[in-house]
Amino acid sequence: MTILITGGAGFIGSNFVLDWLRESDEPVVNLDKLTYAGNLGNLRGLEGDARHTFVQGDICDRACVDGLLTAHRPRAIVHFAAESHVDRSIHGPGEFLRTNIDGTFTLLEAARAYWGALEGEEKAAFRFHHVSTDEVYGSLAPDDPPFTETNTYAPNSPYSASKAASDHLVRAWHHTYGLPVTTSNCSNNYGPYHFPEKLIPLMIANALAGKPLPIYGDGQQIRDWLYVTDHCSAIRAILADGKVGEVYNVGGWNEMPNIEIVHTLIRLLDELSPRADGASYAEQIAYVADRPGHDRRYAIDARKIERELGWRPAETFQTGIRKTVEWYLANQAWVRDVQSGAYREWLDRNYAHRGA
Ligand code: NAD
Ligand code: TYD
Repeated sequence: MTILITGGAGFIGSNFVLDWLRESDEPVVNLDKLTYAGNLGNLRGLEGDARHTFVQGDICDRACVDGLLTAHRPRAIVHFAAESHVDRSIHGPGEFLRTNIDGTFTLLEAARAYWGALEGEEKAAFRFHHVSTDEVYGSLAPDDPPFTETNTYAPNSPYSASKAASDHLVRAWHHTYGLPVTTSNCSNNYGPYHFPEKLIPLMIANALAGKPLPIYGDGQQIRDWLYVTDHCSAIRAILADGKVGEVYNVGGWNEMPNIEIVHTLIRLLDELSPRADGASYAEQIAYVADRPGHDRRYAIDARKIERELGWRPAETFQTGIRKTVEWYLANQAWVRDVQSGAYREWLDRNYAHRGA
């Protein structure tokens, strides 16, 4: 048996591949285009491991996807590949529509043709798991209940709109063609190998480099945060026991305003890697211009996956964030490697006009 992963060189995908091969010997075929966000360095620990086959390719390339399905005959596809950064989607939405919508469409069509030709047990066991985000549900007011699986879709950014479109395609391919799909909508992940343009790794990297810690707007935007290996275990649970056609919300029961996240990071860095001048990293906080259309609050009601599949996060925010800071302190070479010329251009593009 084999599974096919898309986007397995990115943040969550690479954690999933590493986690999968720690937990089982079932081989993984990993299809990833290696965009700026893809990094084979995340998978260095698997060099020479015959259970992992990496293929550089685009999910929009039907011939490539067909070839992999024919050659490896996976029992499941786990679809992570996406353009994933809201700020980038504001600067250039086109690539988000291409990968997140056209790419998902291409994969669904390839999966439909492949699954259609399977028979018996193989056909009955096949699954297409789509990895999505809580951002498709839009923004909550302070007293609104958290998002459930039946929440109305109200995406507000080009990123979340493109993910919402992909969720609808996945749903339609099940209802119309019977493709055996499952979908998970997860809150903000954090942990090792998180690309350092996202909030948590950016703050750690900037703090250590003596740079400003840019807080968008008033810093009171709320997100729910989940340690990445908990997301991986949730997907494993869905693959194993999830009901075909169902959606599962995945979250950490851990809503927090951005400014509190940053203060938590500052406390940990002050303890684990104090500034040479003895001052707190808090001195580097800089309030900057807000993100256009910035969603105020996301929160996940993760009771369905607990009730039906027995999944709950293993990490609390306190344990997960300490592990994360320790990982970044121990892996500064990884951070330096991804801070290439292209990464610096992004920092100029995203922060120059904000007054950071
Ligand atoms: P990421 O940006 O770190 O990684 C995306 C990966 O997909 C990269 O390796 C990239 O090279 C690859 N990729 C991009 N376009 C591709 C294409 N056309 N063909 C093949 N590969 C391509 O993203 P992530 O944070 O790991 O997110 C993974 C998935 O989880 C995404 O679908 C995202 O929407 C979803 N998600 C992320 C979060 C989060 O907090 N990061 C939360 C909920 C859901
Ligand atoms: P991000 O990590 O980009 O994830 P998302 O927008 O998908 O939730 O951002 C998390 C939150 O942090 C979001 O409310 C925007 C905010 N943020 C900042 O305040 N400053 C920053 O420099 C970045 C990158 C994000």
